[in-house]
Amino acid sequence: MLPRELDEIIDLVIRHNTWRRKETINLIASENVMSPLAELFYINDMVGRYAEGTVGSRYYQGTKYIDTIEGMLASRFARVLGARYIDVRPISGTVANLATYFALVPEGGLVASLPVRCGGHISHNTVGGLRALRLRAVELPCDPESFNVDVERARKIVLESRPNLVILGGSLYLFPHPVKELAGVAETAKSCVLHDSAHVLGLIIGGAFPNPLAEGARVMTASTHKTFPGPQGGLIASALDDELNERIKRAVFPVFTSNYHMHRYAATYVTLLEMETFGEEYAARVVANARALAEALAAEGVMPVAERYGFTRTHQVAVDVSKFGGGNKVAYLLEQANIIVNKNMLPWDKSAVRPSGIRIGVQEITRYGMGKDEMREIARLIARVLRGEDINAVRRDVIELRRSFLEIKYGFKINRELVERVFGSLNLL
Ligand SMILES: Cc1ncc(COP(=O)(O)O)c(C=O)c1O
Repeated sequence: MLPRELDEIIDLVIRHNTWRRKETINLIASENVMSPLAELFYINDMVGRYAEGTVGSRYYQGTKYIDTIEGMLASRFARVLGARYIDVRPISGTVANLATYFALVPEGGLVASLPVRCGGHISHNTVGGLRALRLRAVELPCDPESFNVDVERARKIVLESRPNLVILGGSLYLFPHPVKELAGVAETAKSCVLHDSAHVLGLIIGGAFPNPLAEGARVMTASTHKTFPGPQGGLIASALDDELNERIKRAVFPVFTSNYHMHRYAATYVTLLEMETFGEEYAARVVANARALAEALAAEGVMPVAERYGFTRTHQVAVDVSKFGGGNKVAYLLEQANIIVNKNMLPWDKSAVRPSGIRIGVQEITRYGMGKDEMREIARLIARVLRGEDINAVRRDVIELRRSFLEIKYGFKINRELVERVFGSLNLL
């Protein structure tokens, strides 16, 4: 018998699972769901282990299987991304960024990056990661119409200010940034481009988004849980020379991590295999769905940004919802209808806590098998909330729609025998 005190926590977890996996339409652009197989392998003994150091050179004993899997994961990512060096140890995209800055930018150095209102992540800015390392920032200029970097002005800024690092890629990321166009200028300024691929790693591997390393970025960082539908984690992929890669290695440990949350390696490996198998179809469908949702929203009178540019070439859609009460109000109202989005700054915003926009991502609902018809249906549901229709009625329709899309696609299946083998090996049964 379990103690009664556990009832509340059991109930909470089960209610959360049911609500998020069966009753809501999750449109958070930075999230995803793993495949059942990846999730099964996420539960393993490595969750409690240490392996400080690198493969073959650890500070702890007991790491022989961990070494094998870390090595396998790194070499598979290296092959898929065309990288010279991969570090899978950072536990998140932010940690991957900080370690890379630490390795490549000298103390007091300068970084050129996009401000948050133009899609830059907080870790690219002095409100966040740059502040931790006491680095300085110069803003890359963005064009509020095309939602992209203003290449000509950016070139000038890089040549004049000679930053130690130029960061492209972002959190609100609708169109590929001009990696090719800025890589050469960065090198002329004795710098290089870091592409933060946190959001688009899955699209890159699926071939629906340009590979920044192939376009001239010297290093890319990523999260492994956004469009790449693995467990939460980070990644550094580098085309730099051995000396700089060695510096990255020594920044990840002993500077920014000590334990690497290694239980995620197996699930990340499974996800990578699944992406090699199903990724092309998944990524193409994600981008087509995002475009379809944007067009359907526009037809409903909820106009997304960047209409002239075709709204999006990624998994994301952004909408200026000021005329509906702003990002806070709209995100809150949509949540009452079980539609989950986040408020988001847009280039003309002054306040991060009261932004005019919402950001929408379709990668997760695509994994649940939704297509263009469902995008039109979701646009109608969003428009009904914004028009002030009865929220309870919309929520009932959201739950009804969700009922037909409960199975996660683009992954390998599991069966009871495998579950028993894995749980049996942990002595859980
Ligand atoms: C562009 C970008 N970089 C880095 C991160 C940080 O990733 P993580 O949450 O894995 O630290 C995010 C998070 O959403 C992001 O959007």
